[in-house]
Amino acid sequence: MDDKIEIKPVIIKEHFDEVAAMMHQLHIHEHSLFDKTEAWTEIQESYMRHVIHTQETCEGTCLVAYVNEIPSGFIFGYIEEQDDSRIEIYKGKELYVSDGYVAKEYRGLGIYRKLNEELERIYTEKGVRRICRYTLINNTSARQFLERQGYMVTRLLYEKWL
Ligand SMILES: CC(C)(COP(=O)(O)OP(=O)(O)OC[C@H]1O[C@@H](n2cnc3c(N)ncnc32)[C@H](O)[C@@H]1OP(=O)(O)O)[C@@H](O)C(=O)NCCC(=O)NCCS
Repeated sequence: MDDKIEIKPVIIKEHFDEVAAMMHQLHIHEHSLFDKTEAWTEIQESYMRHVIHTQETCEGTCLVAYVNEIPSGFIFGYIEEQDDSRIEIYKGKELYVSDGYVAKEYRGLGIYRKLNEELERIYTEKGVRRICRYTLINNTSARQFLERQGYMVTRLLYEKWL
């Protein structure tokens, strides 16, 4: 394949429209899997504010994959705030990966694997030894991806809506 795939770190504030457009698509996908997901128009402003803030204050990294210069996917993670509630044997810095997406037409090319490997490399260099991420229980492709990349399921989140 002759496509040129590049993975680049971006500052979300400076690439707002590009990242927001992909975040929107990710959100549509989340909505298709969980009907209590709020409409993107309702939360876009606050959610984008949140990722910009965590990028600035929690060593956040947003990587965008460009295929022939076209933004085709991204991943975003940041260092989770440390507090006294930790109970695991490891007390060092933790990476929380909150968002990741590859556009439908570019899936199956190994793009997300590249994004994820680069994110892990950056934080391993910073000394991080634990990475956490949530995924919806019915998101089979994300779960398969994570399990193939060495992640294991350690907890289940139960919800009751009243
Ligand atoms: C999950 C997602 C990011 C994968 O992106 P991608 O670029 O197509 O993934 P890759 O091509 O890098 O795949 C890497 C591995 O993930 C797994 N995988 C990816 N898509 C899969 C699918 N639809 N079904 C099963 N396994 C899948 C495979 O193990 C694959 O390895 P292989 O090619 O050796 O079989 C993409 O499908 C997506 O954006 N989904 C909607 C948003 C989402 O679920 N985000 C959460 C990400 S954790």
